[in-house]
Amino acid sequence: MALDNNNCRKITDQYDGESAAGTEFRRLLHNLLNSSYLPDDGKSFLVTSATTGEGKSTIASSLAITASIYKTKKTLLIDGDVRRPVLHKFFGHDREGGLSDVILDDTKLEDNLKSTPVENLWLLTSGTHQPNPTQLFDSPKVSELLAAAKFYFELVIIDCAPVIPVSDALVLGAEVDGVVLVVKAGETPREVSRRATNLVHESGANLLGVTLNNVNDALPYYYNYRYYGYRYSSKP
Ligand SMILES: Nc1ncnc2c1ncn2[C@@H]1O[C@H](COP(=O)(O)OP(=O)(O)OP(=O)(O)O)[C@@H](O)[C@H]1O
Ligand SMILES: [Mg+2]
Repeated sequence: MALDNNNCRKITDQYDGESAAGTEFRRLLHNLLNSSYLPDDGKSFLVTSATTGEGKSTIASSLAITASIYKTKKTLLIDGDVRRPVLHKFFGHDREGGLSDVILDDTKLEDNLKSTPVENLWLLTSGTHQPNPTQLFDSPKVSELLAAAKFYFELVIIDCAPVIPVSDALVLGAEVDGVVLVVKAGETPREVSRRATNLVHESGANLLGVTLNNVNDALPYYYNYRYYGYRYSSKP
């Protein structure tokens, strides 16, 4: 799936469940939900990466859409990247009235949820711009917010900042049931990915696994679904 964030075309218009990418998102979701490392009642996931631009927001959103459509799970997608938030643009909303507002103001999660065109999928945007994002995640309200999210929803997926430049994902990661690290194949150096993996482990977060983005452009031919000449279609 190729996304064009510059013209802010909504992600739901670009999502194609029948594409090869759609299949990969179903596979990834299945693997996460069935991971032997996930606690029995585990339902909250955080998506991060080593550095910027590896595909975190794209993968977090697509996973949430996949879960809402194919697993019909009541899903909450949270924009936890308050430094470079994009999910409000992906879904055509303003960022205000979101995560930072619930943490800092006397306003509840339930009052800040934004609807999406996908049935079962709700969005909590990053919220009003805050000059001190680091302090935001130190608030005890973060645990309360996640507890409320897990109470109201069957699945919670958080898009977060990368782990090497800032600590946000490491702080939030300790509060969720599982962390997924996105690696942009062919671009992120091995040592950088290894450093990110170590940081997540050391933070005490439950790293469920690593997902490769940009596979078609970077990996050998046998990773490319087109090599197999197989295209399933439900149409006659
Ligand atoms: N598999 C993909 N195929 C094509 N384009 C992609 C793919 N994944 C991501 N992109 C594009 O790469 C850019 C970065 O993706 P995205 O915003 O999801 O990354 P990010 O890790 O969230 O970035 P940031 O660190 O800025 O938050 C976007 O323009 C997105 O459309
Ligand atoms: Mg992002």
